[in-house]
This record gives sequence, structure tokens and C-alpha cells, in this order.
Amino acid sequence: MRRPTVFITRRIPEEGIRIVASFCEVEVSDFDGVLPRKMLLEKVQGKDGILCLLTDTIDREVMEAAGPNLKVIANYAVGYNNIDVEEATRRGIMVTNTPGVLTETTADLAWALMMSVARRIVEADRFVRAGKFRGWEPMLFLGTDVYGATLGIVGFGRIGQAMARRALGFDMTVLYYDLQRVPEEIERQYRARFVPLPELLQTSDFVSLHVPLTKDTYHLIGERELRMMKQEAYLINTARGPVVDEKALVRALREGWIRGAALDVFEREPEVEPELLELENVVLAPHIGSASYATRTKMAEMAAENLVKALQGEIPPNLVNPEVLKGRAHRGLS
Ligand code: NAP
Ligand code: GLV
Ligand code: GLV
Repeated sequence: MRRPTVFITRRIPEEGIRIVASFCEVEVSDFDGVLPRKMLLEKVQGKDGILCLLTDTIDREVMEAAGPNLKVIANYAVGYNNIDVEEATRRGIMVTNTPGVLTETTADLAWALMMSVARRIVEADRFVRAGKFRGWEPMLFLGTDVYGATLGIVGFGRIGQAMARRALGFDMTVLYYDLQRVPEEIERQYRARFVPLPELLQTSDFVSLHVPLTKDTYHLIGERELRMMKQEAYLINTARGPVVDEKALVRALREGWIRGAALDVFEREPEVEPELLELENVVLAPHIGSASYATRTKMAEMAAENLVKALQGEIPPNLVNPEVLKGRAHRGLS
């Protein structure tokens, strides 16, 4: 039997590549950067599977370029807004992601960002390095207490709930907003209270975003929402850049509608709104939410296992478009 062919769009941890190579002919991109579009379109030609990153836009054109053999697109990320899932489903292509394994790692990063901006760690570090430390001062780098504050979690899924778990140890009041309430038992476990988004924005000291990027969450936080927040509050975004209107956020930070922000994601990555770079009350990270050694290895294994299962004709464990199975059965592809 012909071994299926797979293209991996960038070098990922070896553990993942090994799993794919055990069952497939695999080509790993040797381009050290986000793969240019032209190369992506060339490399996917005739492939049975693609293992891609969140920086690869996998749309109709890419699926078309791959051709009729393409059966699976395995994303090396939990968020899959970079893939046109509807188009994939129409074409009978399975799409998979890497949920769960990165939950705690990403929540750790969101927590670190929250602590950093509240206690001005990055500013303080720059101050010490610049040789400006002249000794303890009563008013030096005053910030905001995280312990005992109110945390507003927007999107109460895996990562949102992992934030609530951390908040228990900081004796925080936890509010959350999501499309639907979680079972009462979970609310009790995390001492979390469901509130409408405006109330969450008006009462939280820290607002942390954990929704996926969809048509409905694009600019979920814009000028109106930022103006609802308290002047002493902070916005933390480790979800996706376009969930926040970055231009409105710049104004909010500059004009003091809120006290600060911490961002791991940006509207037009890798571009960063130039004005953000000038502001002291924002902490910036280069999309490193899941970036721990252990987690990136687990993500590689998970993406690889999803891909291989799909190519073996089985249902991959992290299929995001189960509707595709119906279509495949109709066409006798299962
Ligand atoms: P998840 O478990 O699916 O949680 C997302 C939650 O948001 C779900 O409860 C979902 O509800 C809810 N939601 C969806 N649309 C909403 C809307 N319009 N309004 C309010 N709530 C909405 O996903 P996760 O694993 O926690 O990951 C969340 C996101 O974090 C990912 O999609 C990804 O974009 C981002 N992320 C970033 C990094 C990073 O490196 N910075 C790392 C990992 C993840 P339903 O389940 O009902 O749809
Ligand atoms: C990272 O941003 C992910 O979605 O896994
Ligand atoms: C600070 O270092 C203190 O001892 O209060």
C-alpha cells in the first residue's frame, strides 16, 4: 500500500515528527520562519495530510493547491481560526487541534502577565538595568494588589477555568462570562459567578480573555467595552489579537480609561501597533502562551497522532469538524 504523504510546515519537536514518519512519507519545511505563501502552496501539492501552525493561513486556495488527496489538516495549536473549517468540511477534509495539553501552561502565562503588569515587573526591571535604583523608596513603582482582587474571565472554557483555579489561591472574587453557564457544581468549585459581559467589565479589577477568535468575538473588546472598565483595571489578552480592537486599546492606555494591559497576542501578528511599544503601562509577549518545553512536545505528539489516525481511516481524537464524517460516509470515503 502507498504510504500517505504529509507536509509539516515548520520544524516541530522531533517526538511529533517521529510519529508521523512511522506511518507516512513526511516532508518537514526547512524554512526558518513563517512559510511564505508561495512555498506553502507549492509544498502541499498532492499531499494526503498537512500538519500546520497557527501562523499558516489554510484557506480554500491551499486546499485547492493540495488537491483531492488531502484528507486531514492537523493544527499545532488549540485555536484554529487560521483554518477555513467550513471549506474543509465541504471538501471532506478533517481538521484537528491540540486542546487540553496546553491549558495549564497558557494559564500560567496569563497569570504571569497579570502579575507583571499589576506589580510593574517589566518596568522595574528596565529601571534597575538602567542603573536608576537608588535604594528603597516609599513611592517607588506602586502597583495594584492581585491578592483579593476581582478577576473577570471572558470565555470560561479550559483555559478560563484554569485561571479560576489559580484565583482560588489568591482569594479572588471570580466573575465569568461565556455563551452559557457552566454546571453549578463547577461554579461552586471555583467560587465563580456568571455575569453579563457589561457587568463583568464594570466590576473587575482584572479582565482576562479566553475566548476563541470567531466572527462573534472579533473586536469583542472595543472602545465601548474599554470605557466600561474601571480606571484602575487591567486587561489581559492571551486569546487572539483580533478579539481586542488594538487601536481603541492604545487610546485606553494612553488616555487612562484603564490602568494597564498585558498582551501575548496582537491584531496583525507579527506586527505590533507601534504606539504600544511606547507605552509603559503595557506588558508585551510574543505569543508564547503554550511555550514550555514539556507542552510543546505534547502538542507535537498530539497533532501527529491526530494526523496519523485520520490517515489510517480512523476518527482522530481531536476532530474539530465531526460533521465531515457524515459527508465522508455519503461519499464512501470512511
Ligand atoms: P475552550 O475550552 O474552547 O474555551 C473557550 C470558551 O469560550 C468556551 O467556553 C466557548 O464556549 C467560549 N466562547 C466561544 N465563543 C464565545 C463568545 N462569542 N462569547 C463568549 N464565550 C465564547 O478553549 P481553550 O482551550 O480554553 O482556548 C481558548 C483560546 O485561547 C483558543 O481558542 C486560542 O485562541 C487561545 N490560546 C492562546 C494561546 C497563546 O499562546 N496565547 C494558547 C492556547 C490557546 P463554547 O464551548 O460554547 O463555544
Ligand atoms: C496558541 O495560540 C494556540 O491556540 O494553541
Ligand atoms: C520591605 O522590604 C519591608 O521590610 O517592609
